[in-house]
Amino acid sequence: MTITKLKQRSLLGLKDLSKEEIESILDRAAYWENHPVKVQSTVQGKFAANMFFENSTRTRFSFEVAEKRLGAEVLNFSSAVSSVQKGESIYDTVRTLESMGIDVGVIRLKPIGVLAELAEKIQVPLINAGDGNNEHPTQALLDMYTMRKQFGELKGLTVAIVGDVLHSRVARSNLWALRKFGVNVKFCSPPNMQALELDVPYVSMEEALQADVVMMLRVQLERHESGMLSSAEGYREHYGLTAERAATIASHAIIMHPAPINRNVEIDDELVEHPQSRIFTQMANGVPVRMAVIERALS
Ligand code: CP
Repeated sequence: MTITKLKQRSLLGLKDLSKEEIESILDRAAYWENHPVKVQSTVQGKFAANMFFENSTRTRFSFEVAEKRLGAEVLNFSSAVSSVQKGESIYDTVRTLESMGIDVGVIRLKPIGVLAELAEKIQVPLINAGDGNNEHPTQALLDMYTMRKQFGELKGLTVAIVGDVLHSRVARSNLWALRKFGVNVKFCSPPNMQALELDVPYVSMEEALQADVVMMLRVQLERHESGMLSSAEGYREHYGLTAERAATIASHAIIMHPAPINRNVEIDDELVEHPQSRIFTQMANGVPVRMAVIERALS
């Protein structure tokens, strides 16, 4: 296998992935979702390393479930209990695991740009499990998968992404991928949480609530400079999906959120498992989507 072909099996982001490639991943995810046998031998004998330099619950565990369902051997790396604590670099860490013979690396990182540099130097396929506020491709893929299942097709949908867009890699990956499918994407954010470099219209909360998909974003307090969020109550009042606001969305519309959730800040507690919420469905869909991504990387 040539290095170019190996690199084509990486998934660093959706901005540069074709519509056809995305469709093929979503179709394969549908296959895996409907596959009756829980554990396969599809990639038996291959080693997958999950390297998380930033905290995660959903992404890390759903990659692990996906890898195990495909029959891979799984290595879980956590920076908190690794030699990163002694000052080892990200590159040396990934290069170390590569030298031990891993076949694919799933990586979550805080800094932007490091993943692209790693992909230039590392020969095994790399999958982006979220890098800074740049991209979270598998989250957007599972979001698109959830929307496609709900509505049959993506073309013509209106998706309103509401909240802390500035710090959101989920918003960026969804924007870049959904637009390839003819989806009308709108943002709704407080002025100090907007990403004005992205060419997207910002709309009022009232207009956002008219969308087919109302995607709420977590207020990412850990990435905020001091003073960005003056009060949780004030945020909820102006930009939160309250029960009162949710009562105004269309009966066919769905509520999404990538989670983790700040309950009663960006979304009211009682809406998380509302009949129109697909939040836990999104999490469930993460497994077949990541099976398709891991299979693409290893086959
Ligand atoms: N949605 C998401 O990326 O969740 P985790 O941070 O728990 O992986």
